[in-house]
Amino acid sequence: KFIGDLTGLHVLEEQIKEILQVDHVVVVPGDSDDDTWVQKEMGKACIASLKKIVGKQNTIAVTGGTTMAAVAEAMTSLNKESEFLFVPARGGIGEKAENQASRIVEEMAKKVGGEYRQLYVPDPISDNTYETLINEPSIMEVIQRIKGADIVIHGVGDALKMAERRRTREHVITLLKEKDAASEAFGYYFDQAGNVVHKVKTVGIQLEDLDNVDNVITVAGGKSKGVAIASYFKRGRSDLLITDQGAAEQILRGF
Ligand code: G3H
Repeated sequence: KFIGDLTGLHVLEEQIKEILQVDHVVVVPGDSDDDTWVQKEMGKACIASLKKIVGKQNTIAVTGGTTMAAVAEAMTSLNKESEFLFVPARGGIGEKAENQASRIVEEMAKKVGGEYRQLYVPDPISDNTYETLINEPSIMEVIQRIKGADIVIHGVGDALKMAERRRTREHVITLLKEKDAASEAFGYYFDQAGNVVHKVKTVGIQLEDLDNVDNVITVAGGKSKGVAIASYFKRGRSDLLITDQGAAEQILRGF
């Protein structure tokens, strides 16, 4: 079932680089839709790549989700001489506590021996609350840290699955279906051509903020996410994709 040898995976990595126009790709064997250990392998691959890019002082912004939880699980001490601050890329979203960015940054910071900050704001957020909250000094400070992040590590989800998981209102789900939304990341919903078809109002990383980040790492796998990953890469910035064989082969099939 799996391409057993590393040469096969390497070929797959080169093909994905070309198709998605991304500088670096790591493909781990297996399909995380079928086996939970594959997500753990993506987590380990992410940490191995992270070790190569950390500097002296690092602010690392992280999103939520089960994949990011696997990255946190795989986290080990990175570099004893460096300093680390972990911040959630977004506020609290309607996810299970263990998959929320706030819990994930706490776990990462403790394992690395670094610091972390929390962003105590709802996500999604209403326009009125947004204006009030972003002017709160404690929140403003965290937002500045998030927007000044050196490294962003994030997941990508299938649009409709994410909308359902986050208890999105019915009329929004209808709109996402009408507009053929394919992926979700950072509260943006993209169609297969990479157009933003819907945006959830969020406090935290916005798409344009990614231009100021040294390294954006995308971690997403599973055959069911192949279309979503390709959709995100049409528009969103990323320097490194960590994925699995299941997703990579699905991306290839689409071209
Ligand atoms: O925004 C995307 C989601 O956080 C991905 O969630 O890693 O549980 O599939 P997941």
